[in-house]
Amino acid sequence: MMKNNLSCGLLYFLFCLLLPPLVFSHTHGNPATEIVDILNKNRTDQKLHNLNDSPGLGCMALQYVGLCKGNCTDNNVVNCKPPEDDFVEVFAPNCGIELPTFGTITGHIVGCQRKYLEPSLAFSQILIKDKKSLSLLRNKSHTEVGVGLVGLHKKGPFFWCVLFTDGKANSTFVLENRGAGIKQKKGCYSGSNTPCSRGQKHGVSSSNFFFMCYVFILLFKLL
Ligand SMILES: *[C@@H]1O[C@H](CO)[C@@H](O)[C@H](O)[C@H]1NC(C)=O
Ligand SMILES: *[C@@H]1O[C@H](CO)[C@@H](O)[C@H](O)[C@H]1NC(C)=O
Ligand SMILES: *[C@@H]1O[C@H](CO)[C@@H](O)[C@H](O)[C@H]1NC(C)=O
Ligand SMILES: *[C@@H]1O[C@H](CO)[C@@H](O)[C@H](O)[C@H]1NC(C)=O
Repeated sequence: MMKNNLSCGLLYFLFCLLLPPLVFSHTHGNPATEIVDILNKNRTDQKLHNLNDSPGLGCMALQYVGLCKGNCTDNNVVNCKPPEDDFVEVFAPNCGIELPTFGTITGHIVGCQRKYLEPSLAFSQILIKDKKSLSLLRNKSHTEVGVGLVGLHKKGPFFWCVLFTDGKANSTFVLENRGAGIKQKKGCYSGSNTPCSRGQKHGVSSSNFFFMCYVFILLFKLL
């Protein structure tokens, strides 16, 4: 009987160890990468070529919105204009972009909103909502795209940014350290493996989860 309980508890423990990654892979996706996928689906549906998801561009997009913090108006307009030079002098080094691979940025779209929007809504309601952004989206000379997003406080506002380039795919805006670049503290960007921090509202804290598992195991032992 004793042995039975023990193996049951052990099974539970293993189950608990396995469960959190499953839970998190669902709630902690990368919405920036999802936006790139939606953007590419939109393009290919219109018979335009797929754009390469560039983590280097994505990281600079994240840097761009990071600089705009506090500059979202009540009408959800981003009121912020970082100097052009910031791309090469500040954003690129902060991301760890290999400078010789720095290309031309052929378009950018920035948007903000008090509350967090799911990727498909962010795409249609924040990023691609007027003629200007629609024509940028459809431009045939783009080769790569990157998306960055950040929510500065739990309550927002949230900022989204899309950057395009016409440089040679996979050899412009290359991140050093074999593509890993420099780890970013806030937000998330497309093409990166790290999940978004504060981009999403939901999510179970892992310590809570383990605590629950611990309680379960204790209960099992008592039975
Ligand atoms: C953000 O807004 C403030 C106040 O209007 C302004 O001084 C600042 O330059 C803006 N930031 C950027 C990066 O444009
Ligand atoms: C597409 O982007 C290129 C490069 O930025 C620009 O020169 C061109 O005018 C754009 N084409 C259209 C149709 O907007
Ligand atoms: C592409 O996105 C734009 C903006 O959201 C939308 O108006 C258009 O219908 C979309 N096109 C396709 C083919 O999904
Ligand atoms: C760039 O890299 C991606 C992912 O490794 C690959 O799918 C794509 O075909 C490459 N594009 C070019 C133009 O080399």
